[in-house]
Amino acid sequence: MNMGILIPAITFMYIIIINNLYSNVIKSAIDFLTQESYSAQLYIANYIKKDNKTDVETNFLNKAPLINTFLSNKLNFRIQTYDKNGNILADSVMNSVNLYDEDITNSLRGDKAYVVKNIDGNIYVLFSSPIYLKDRTLGCVRYIYPVDSGQKIIKNMFIIMGIIASISVLISWLLSNLFSENIAGPIKKLKVISQKVASGKYDSKIEIKSGDEIEDLAETFNVMSESIRASIESLKKEKQKQKDFLDNVTHEFKTPLTAIIGYSELIPRLQDKEDIDESLAYIKEEGERLLRLVEELLDMSKLDKTEFNVDRNNNNLNEVIEETLNIIQLRLNKYDIEIIKDLFDVKIFIDRDKTKQVILNVLDNAIKYSECTSIIIKMEDKENAIILSVIDNGIGIEEQYLHKIFEPIYRVSKENSKSENGNGLGLSICKEIMKKQDGNIEIYSEIKKYTSVKIIFKK
Ligand SMILES: Nc1ncnc2c1ncn2[C@@H]1O[C@H](COP(=O)(O)OP(=O)(O)OP(=O)(O)O)[C@@H](O)[C@H]1O
Ligand SMILES: [Mg+2]
Repeated sequence: MNMGILIPAITFMYIIIINNLYSNVIKSAIDFLTQESYSAQLYIANYIKKDNKTDVETNFLNKAPLINTFLSNKLNFRIQTYDKNGNILADSVMNSVNLYDEDITNSLRGDKAYVVKNIDGNIYVLFSSPIYLKDRTLGCVRYIYPVDSGQKIIKNMFIIMGIIASISVLISWLLSNLFSENIAGPIKKLKVISQKVASGKYDSKIEIKSGDEIEDLAETFNVMSESIRASIESLKKEKQKQKDFLDNVTHEFKTPLTAIIGYSELIPRLQDKEDIDESLAYIKEEGERLLRLVEELLDMSKLDKTEFNVDRNNNNLNEVIEETLNIIQLRLNKYDIEIIKDLFDVKIFIDRDKTKQVILNVLDNAIKYSECTSIIIKMEDKENAIILSVIDNGIGIEEQYLHKIFEPIYRVSKENSKSENGNGLGLSICKEIMKKQDGNIEIYSEIKKYTSVKIIFKK
């Protein structure tokens, strides 16, 4: 755009200057010739007057060659003399084209006249001045004045201006390039970074130190992408929280459902009325627990909470273990797994339902994965803790996987002999529950020998 304005402007100036120069050169040539024509008129009039015997006109005709030679010698350029009818009387350059033009006709009417002509690439002023005596026009003297010095000046000027114009166009081009690069550079950077942000790389930052509005814009952009990054991060966290919550909920539902299914399968095999009543009571209890869970879930949804609380009371751990064993009794029978118990009554401060959930998952894992024939369940009374160990004599877990199985969704082997599949969530949820009850859960194993899960309750 700069060039589009600059080049026509320079060309316009160029034409005006050259035109002006040209008119000045022509004007000064005319001034000079006008001056010369006055002294020529005086000289010729005096010269003709000297001879008063002959008629003035004949005298002029006779003396024309002499006058012409005198003038051309004096002025050093081509001079012509014409009679009053426009016939040439003398020419300082012999045998040349006489270049007749309207300046002659005009001057013979009594006025000085000129034309400017380009002859073979050179500019000439053809200036004719009438010669008169006693109010009679005798003819005219014509000056063929080359404006070569002026032409040279115009030519030089033409070249110099051409050079100056080209240099200014070049400088202006360089400057506008530099200037536009100064503006376009940061904008290009902005474009690249905004594309990155658009494709999800929210930590991309722009560094522009131009000290102007573009720098402000870049800073605003950085603030914007940072706040997008933070929002996305919190959305991801929120999503993860909701996923964890859903995992916990489904796992928690598993315990009462497993119990209900277990007892309903057991009842048809029972003979004794007391045993049947007991099983029905368990089904009712577990059904009520399910209902409590659903209510708790509804409350949590109302309060926008995504975490279960542990509800701790004094409970006899032995009873909790027995209830849990009852739930899976049928499966233990089905796979011929012998349970060896070493338990005692002890009251500890725990969430009954959640503790059942932990023990059930540990026993469930031993049945599903270990291919064991017996499970030892024993309690130890330590100084600060009651330790419940569940030890199977199964396939064991390789040492490299031992710490990993507490991670959510981690499963050592996707296949198991019992064709019962898990989600890999159990142990990570157990760890969470035990931590919330100030306890812990640890796992020890030796391949092809045993797996021992220690559930630690703080006293
Ligand atoms: N006693 C065990 N013997 C052999 N492998 C075990 C034993 N206990 C756990 N594992 C391995 O640890 C993995 C993780 O167990 P976890 O209870 O966390 O998940 P899961 O039982 O697969 O699924 P979920 O409990 O959610 O139904 C199991 O998939 C299994 O590979
Ligand atoms: Mg499990």
